[in-house]
Amino acid sequence: MIKKCLFPAAGYGTRFLPATKAMPKEMLPILTKPLIQYGVEEAKEAGCNIMAIVTGRGKRAIEDHFDISYELEYQIKGSQKEELLHQIRELIDNCTFTYTRQKEMKGLGDAILKGKALLGEDSPFAVILADDLCINPKGSNVLKQMVQVYKKYKCSIIAIMEVDKNSTDKYGIISGKEIEKNIYKVANMVEKPEVSKAPSNLAIIGRYILTPDIFDIIKDTKPGKNGEVQITDALLTQAKEGKVIAYKFDGLRFDCGNVNGFVEATNYFYKYNKTV
Ligand code: G1P
Repeated sequence: MIKKCLFPAAGYGTRFLPATKAMPKEMLPILTKPLIQYGVEEAKEAGCNIMAIVTGRGKRAIEDHFDISYELEYQIKGSQKEELLHQIRELIDNCTFTYTRQKEMKGLGDAILKGKALLGEDSPFAVILADDLCINPKGSNVLKQMVQVYKKYKCSIIAIMEVDKNSTDKYGIISGKEIEKNIYKVANMVEKPEVSKAPSNLAIIGRYILTPDIFDIIKDTKPGKNGEVQITDALLTQAKEGKVIAYKFDGLRFDCGNVNGFVEATNYFYKYNKTV
């Protein structure tokens, strides 16, 4: 039902300098696999086969990663090392990867709007922020859970989790009515509110399913927090019409956009999940 997944991947990754000076932050590996590959695997498992990636200058390694590498594959043919490429080969063989560039950093809303050229306007699509590495050791992955929620509500769906009430200024924060266990009809949402002004401690995590009318709404959305066009503000327009559901997902989320979260994810995967 949701076949396309958008990956905004134009950001500079300044928190990881100098590592990200010449390398896209999305290519930083947790163990042996780059962050964006975890996201693409999640999307594929959730039923997507078109991966639309919004890149920027200096991000060519992402395109090379999702392509075959003749020389390397020829070199390791017949050796045990071939196995290390099985997972990525599986993605390359079964998904279509499309790319466009966001030329200026004008915010997540603007990056999503740039994806319109890749996604078209006729169907809902998923969005994964690869920095937010999400896993569910006990069952379906987070995007797959959200697809189930979409099937029922047929409107935009956003992933949320409870965060410490002193860290609301790092996230988009929602408030709304819990209409089913872990499912909220969103009434308000604010991008990175000051702690004293946050409407709740329910934070948006980097997984969305968006209905395509969002593109026109983004076009009419004025720059907000930090002078950037925020997807949170565009979604508020849909929410006011009762068309946004927030879903408190089952699973774990690592904030790999900062060094602490990245190290936590690395330790977790090393301990529990070595083979992925
Ligand atoms: C983005 C969104 C924010 C969301 C966050 C989740 O912010 O704008 O609403 O809570 O992702 O990671 P960023 O972290 O890219 O600044």
